[in-house]
Amino acid sequence: MQNIIVVLGTGGTIAGTSAVAGDNIGYTAAQIGVSQLVKAVPELASVPLECEQVAQVDSKDMGFAIWRTLALRAAHHLARAEVAGVVVTHGTDTLEETAYFLQRVLEPTKPLVMTAAMRPATSPQADGPQNLLDAVRVAGHLGVQGVVAVLNGQIHSAHDLRKTHTYRVDAFSSGDAGVMGVVAHGEVRISRARPKGVATGCELLPTDTTAWPRVEIVHSHAGADGAVVRLLCADGVRGLAIAATGNGTVHHHLESALLQAQSEGVKVLRSSRCLGGRVLAKADDVLPSADDLTPVKARIELLLELLRPPSA
Ligand code: SIN
Repeated sequence: MQNIIVVLGTGGTIAGTSAVAGDNIGYTAAQIGVSQLVKAVPELASVPLECEQVAQVDSKDMGFAIWRTLALRAAHHLARAEVAGVVVTHGTDTLEETAYFLQRVLEPTKPLVMTAAMRPATSPQADGPQNLLDAVRVAGHLGVQGVVAVLNGQIHSAHDLRKTHTYRVDAFSSGDAGVMGVVAHGEVRISRARPKGVATGCELLPTDTTAWPRVEIVHSHAGADGAVVRLLCADGVRGLAIAATGNGTVHHHLESALLQAQSEGVKVLRSSRCLGGRVLAKADDVLPSADDLTPVKARIELLLELLRPPSA
């Protein structure tokens, strides 16, 4: 019977503790193990769950090695016939990056549900337990496929998710696309399908993550002169995601440096630093558009493109 939910722990504020119970800012992330997080939610006692601690980090420190391990462990569990879905507990700060990475690598047909919290586990108003309960419900829901994030009663697709607030519990948005659904009093309601793509597969991810191609994000801003691009190229950068202004516009000095980098083989992708909308391509564009991907997700696209063997 396909009914087991596997919960993979990676740390974050959801597993954070503070010496002062009411302190929702001065706490230490990634202190409590994933089994303890599950035990703190009485409603989960009757759900067939398995827990595995994949990492224990503040997600600002997320990196390629944890991404690779997480992708492999999630793929392993999702392939088990008895597993209905996988939940990943994570920090909110890079949640959208890990969600997008897992979505592009795995494109799972079962639910892979990311969840997190804005307040530590020791807070009297902790949001983690409810988010974890909701995430498990979504992971067991037949109508859900792919990587989604469940926070504050909302279900976001990995493609559209972004953190938009520094401290409120309603810190995430799906922008113009809107949420995929909601969890209300334990009931999962899906209102739209998720954007679908083609999985790159875990075999694309080399074991030695220190050798993964270097891809950086460069901002266009007043006075951007392109010096940072020249320095990065001299340092062996392979890809540059641009956080451009408005509808993908780039300071002309920065653009010259990027065109030079592109002519030398560096992959460039132009996204916008705006909080909403997409980069609408124009006939006279000289640098490729990342469409609706944010700069951090455009960076992941470039990373995966550079990891792909030339013949693929
Ligand atoms: C983190 O991202 O690990 C810390 C912040 C958070 O989870 O809200």
